[in-house]
Amino acid sequence: MKKFILVFLIFNFSIFNFLKADEGMWLPIFLKAMNEADMQNKGLKLSAEDIYSINKSSLKDAIVHFGGGCTAEIISDQGLMFTNHHCGYGQIQEHSSVENDLLTNGFWAKSQAEELPNPGLVATLIIRMEDVTAQVLANVTSGMSDTEREKKVNEAIALITKEATKDSHYGAYIRPFFYGNEYYMFVTETFKDVRLVGAPPSSIGKFGGDTDNWMWPRHTGDFSVFRIYANKDNKPADYSKDNVPYKPKYVIPISIKGIEENDFTMVYGFPGRTTEYLSSFAVNMIMNESDPAKVKIRETRLGIWDADMKANDKVRIQYSAKHASLANYWKKWDGEIKGLKTADAINKKKLFEQDFLLKVNTDDDAKGKYGNLFSDFEKMYAEISVWSKQRDYHSEAIMGIEIVSAAAYFYDVMEVLKTGKKAVDAQKNISKINGEVSDFYKNFNAVTDEKICAAMLKTYVDNIDKSQQAAVFSEIQKKYKGDFKKYAKDLYSKSMFVSETKVKEALMDMDKNYKKIEKDPAYKLMYSCLSKYKKEVLPTYTDLDAKINTLNRTYMKAMRELVTTKKYYPDANSTLRVTYGKVSGYVPKNGVHYDYYTTLDGVMEKENPAVDEFVVFPKLKELYKNKDYGQYANKKGELPVAFCASNHTTGGNSGSPVFNAEGQLIGTNFDRNWEGTMSDIIYNPDQVRNIVLDVRFTLFVIDKFAGAGYLLNEMKIIK
Ligand code: ARG
Ligand code: GLU
Repeated sequence: MKKFILVFLIFNFSIFNFLKADEGMWLPIFLKAMNEADMQNKGLKLSAEDIYSINKSSLKDAIVHFGGGCTAEIISDQGLMFTNHHCGYGQIQEHSSVENDLLTNGFWAKSQAEELPNPGLVATLIIRMEDVTAQVLANVTSGMSDTEREKKVNEAIALITKEATKDSHYGAYIRPFFYGNEYYMFVTETFKDVRLVGAPPSSIGKFGGDTDNWMWPRHTGDFSVFRIYANKDNKPADYSKDNVPYKPKYVIPISIKGIEENDFTMVYGFPGRTTEYLSSFAVNMIMNESDPAKVKIRETRLGIWDADMKANDKVRIQYSAKHASLANYWKKWDGEIKGLKTADAINKKKLFEQDFLLKVNTDDDAKGKYGNLFSDFEKMYAEISVWSKQRDYHSEAIMGIEIVSAAAYFYDVMEVLKTGKKAVDAQKNISKINGEVSDFYKNFNAVTDEKICAAMLKTYVDNIDKSQQAAVFSEIQKKYKGDFKKYAKDLYSKSMFVSETKVKEALMDMDKNYKKIEKDPAYKLMYSCLSKYKKEVLPTYTDLDAKINTLNRTYMKAMRELVTTKKYYPDANSTLRVTYGKVSGYVPKNGVHYDYYTTLDGVMEKENPAVDEFVVFPKLKELYKNKDYGQYANKKGELPVAFCASNHTTGGNSGSPVFNAEGQLIGTNFDRNWEGTMSDIIYNPDQVRNIVLDVRFTLFVIDKFAGAGYLLNEMKIIK
C-alpha cells in the first residue's frame, strides 16, 4: 500500500502541478509573496512594491477601471488616458451624427476646450485593497444554510464597506474569491467627468471588424484617448466647465524603443470573469450544451441581420453596433468549444478528479469531508442542465426578438398597474421607459425583426420540451400549427410595438391604455415568456446555482488543502489583477508558425475598398507610400501595428496597459487569439496569446496621421 502511494505521488506530480507557465491573474497585494521572485527571474526590473503600494505612488495609481467593463491607463500628468476604440465606441457613436460622423472620420480635440463630455461614463481608481475574510465570515457557522450564510455575509459586507468609506468621498466593494473561501475589499475613487480627447476613424480603430475579431495576425488600431477631469481640489465631481484635468499620483512612461520576441511583458487591469477550477461536469455542460446552443441561436440571428444589412444601407447602419456585440461572443464561444475539444478539457479534468479522489480516500478525515464531491457535482449538473437550457433559450432566442425586448420595458410598470395602483405611482418608471424607447427605435427595423421572431420561436419550440414551454406556445400551436412565419406576420401587423409613435402615445396615459397593452400580441408573447422566466426558471436556476457554488467552495478548499504542488490564483471577477508572460508567436497548427508582430504592410495586404471592414483611409495609404513613419518605425524600417504575447487575459482586460520589464508602456491590450479563447476555462501556454496594439502605432496615428502631436507633449516618451 505504501509503495502504491509513493508511486501514485510521483506519477501524479505532473497532473497535480497543472499551473502552466504564464498562467494566472494575480492579486496585486500578494505579488511580493507569490510572484516577485518568479517575475524577476523572467526579466522584471521592478519590485512588487513598484507595482502595488499603499505607502508610495505605484503603477496601480495609473490603472483605471473604465466605464465598469474595460481598463484604461493614465499617461500624462493631466489625466490623459489610453483605452481601446471598442471601449470608447458607445461614446464615440453618441457624439456622431450623419453630418459629423466621428465613427467614420475620427475625432481630435485641438485643445482641452474641445474635449467632449460623456454623461454616465466613469473612471475608477483603486485606492487600496484588503483581505476582509475574517470580518465577512465572522458570523458564519458551518451548519448554516446557503441563504443564511448569504444573509450574514451581506450584512457584514454592508457594515465593513460603510466603515471603510465613512468621512470620505471613496467608494468600496467586497467580492468573494475562491468561491467565497476568501473576501477582499477594494476602496475606490470614481471620477465622473471623463472626456473624449481623440479617436481614430473606424477604418483604423476597428480595422478588420468582425472578420478579424478574436484572430491573430491582427492589424487593428484599437485605441481611443480620454481625459479625467476633477474639481479644483483634484477630487471627483460631476461634469462642470470649471473642472480641471486630474493630477494623477502616477504617470506611466511610454517606451518606443521596441520589443523583441521573448521580452518580459506584464498586463495590469480588470479581467471580468474566468472559471478555471470547474469540475468536469461543468465543463461538459458548457462545451456540449450551453455554448453550442448559444452559438447556434446567434448564428441564426446574425444570418438574418447580415442579409438585411447587405440589402439595405439604413439597416446596415442601424444594426452595426448590435451586430458587432452579438457577433463578438458568438465567435468567442465557437472558439471556446473548439479550444476545449483540442485541449481534451473534459478528460483532463476527469483524470485530475480521479487522482484527486484517490488522494482524498487515503485520509479518513478528507474522505468524510470531500468523498462525495464529484457524485454531488454530477447530481447537481444533471438537475441544473434543463434549467440552464431554458435560461439560454430565454435570453438568447426569446429576448433576441427585439419587439419582445421592447414590450419587456413595460413589464414592471404593468405589474404595478395590475395591483390597482395608478400611473402617477409609477411615474419615474414611465419616464425611464420613455428614454429607453427612444434609444430602442432609433435602431429598430420591423421587417428584419419579424424574420427574427419567426426563426427564434421555431428554435424555441424545436428545442425546449413541450412541458417546459411558456403557456403562450400552446395557443400559438393551436392556431398556427407550427407556421411561425404566419404568426409573426400577424403579430407585426397588429402590435403597437412596431411603432415608436404608438408606444409613446400609450405612455402618455397608462391608466387608459393599460388594458390595450395587455391585449397587444407582442406584449402577450413577452408576458407569457418573461413571467415564466422570472417566476419559475430564474429562481430555480439561481437556487441550484447557489448549491453548485457551495460545492465549488468546498472543492476549491479541498484542492488548496490537498494539492499543494500548485500555486492558486483566484478566478477573474472584475477586480484588479496582474498577469505576466512574454512576447511570443505560436504554432496554431501543424506546419504553421505565426510571427509575434504585424506591421502596416499587413494592413495594406488586407486592404479591400469593396469591403467596409478592410477600407484603408487615404491619408494612411499616403504615409505608407512615403514610408513616413518618423521615430515609430522598428529597426527594419517597418511600422509595427500589433504584437502577441503569452499573458493570461480575458474580457475586461481590453484597454489594459502592457508593460515591459522596466514598467514602461509598450502597448494596449485589446483581444485574444482564436486558439486561446478557451483560456477562461483551461489555459494552454502553447496556444493562448493576448493581442496588443503596439504603442508605436498609437503614437504614429496621433502624431503623423491625425496631426494631434501636441498631445505627445504631455507624455513621457522614452526613446
Ligand atoms: N474581441 C474583442 C473583445 O472581446 C473585441 C471586440 C470588439 N470588436 C468587434 N469587432 N466586435 O471584446
Ligand atoms: N476584447 C476583450 C475585452 O473587451 C478582450 C479580449 C479577451 O477576452 O481576452 O475586454
